Amino acid sequence: MVRIAVIPGDGIGPEVISEALNVLRTVAACSGKTIQTIDFDFGAERYLRDGVSLPPDMLDRFRAEFDAILMGALGDSRIADNKHATEILFGIRCGLDLYANIRPVKLLARRLTPLKNVTEADINFTVFRENTEDLYVGIGGIFKKGTPDEVAIQESISTRKGVQRILEAAFSFAAAHRLKKVTMADKSNALRFGGELWQRTFHDVSQRYPEIEAEHVYIDALAMMLLREPSRFQVIVTNNMFGDIISDLGAQLQGGLGIAASGNIRPEGPCMFEPVHGSAPRYAGRNVANPMGAIMSAQMMVGHLGWEAEASAIETAVQECVRAGECTEDLQGTLGTREVGAAVCRRLQKLVGR
Ligand code: NAD
Ligand code: IPM
Ligand code: MN
Repeated sequence: MVRIAVIPGDGIGPEVISEALNVLRTVAACSGKTIQTIDFDFGAERYLRDGVSLPPDMLDRFRAEFDAILMGALGDSRIADNKHATEILFGIRCGLDLYANIRPVKLLARRLTPLKNVTEADINFTVFRENTEDLYVGIGGIFKKGTPDEVAIQESISTRKGVQRILEAAFSFAAAHRLKKVTMADKSNALRFGGELWQRTFHDVSQRYPEIEAEHVYIDALAMMLLREPSRFQVIVTNNMFGDIISDLGAQLQGGLGIAASGNIRPEGPCMFEPVHGSAPRYAGRNVANPMGAIMSAQMMVGHLGWEAEASAIETAVQECVRAGECTEDLQGTLGTREVGAAVCRRLQKLVGR
């Protein structure tokens, strides 16, 4: 039995998570496994109602009571500074020390990429985004606020431990999947101190993986190469800020934010899985949001929890739907959110024997 904490969140979050849960229940029923889910109402409504973003005892509860967390998206225009969203999102990522944000980029059908002359085989790589440090640590402040002399400081932190563990995660993933190359992207030609730490640590970690090519590229060049020659990448590892930007670029290469999935991972303890997209408020409540990103995040989750055959069946079902055009408008289909979820479940039932 697996126990999942579910945070549907804001905007399109609840709709896409509802389809991801239908898919999980279908795969569990077909394979004779049990999944228990408990919903938590953290998000904009709750925050506006009683000021609670992530209750202080939640991290302990996640650790004690759950195998994983499945989240929709957070973000609401009524909360202009995004405070509830960052408190919940970073509260979980940092609070549970989920240091590896793993974001696969895989083209499921050629028609979905905006690139010319590219096939499914050319776009298949995984981004390892450091998830607990860099500009995201919230260190800094504002001085002389509201005056012409105002100063804003936002510090970027890199620690040896933090850099080493994300690099190790990237290399060990490459080794486990028999991949031949890990590409580390930084901006060490301009950002000297953090860059030097990443460079030295990359060199040290790569020594333990002599069979894997350790390639370094500057992040600006990486952005260019991702468009020009995506097939050269298998594993990309980078810091939190660059990883955020690159993963949206990667999402677009495979068909858009609607289909991109992610896992926030540390090997021990409960991990959190969420689509890469946000709450897309304009799409909310209209049955138009693509649930594939949420479904593929749930797929990563069950794979992480050891349901390997089920994870592989979900991936196949999603791929079949995408290739058959059973998808939402952003993937050039005509179906709604619920109909896509149902289409994935129908294919799953055929794939997974009882
Ligand atoms: P967004 O990802 O919500 O939407 C950007 C655009 O991407 C949409 O207008 C739409 O065209 C497309 N898109 C995204 N998800 C889609 C889906 N499932 N189906 C079809 N199309 C989809 O990003 P945004 O508009 O920049 O941000 C909206 C809010 O979400 C903000 O408050 C932001 O801070 C928040 N956000 C949250 C997360 C998260 O919870 N992890 C991630 C990104 C943004
Ligand atoms: C993401 C999002 C978040 C991030 C935002 C909503 C704070 O863009 O998960 O990629 O920057 O990590
Ligand atoms: Mn992002």
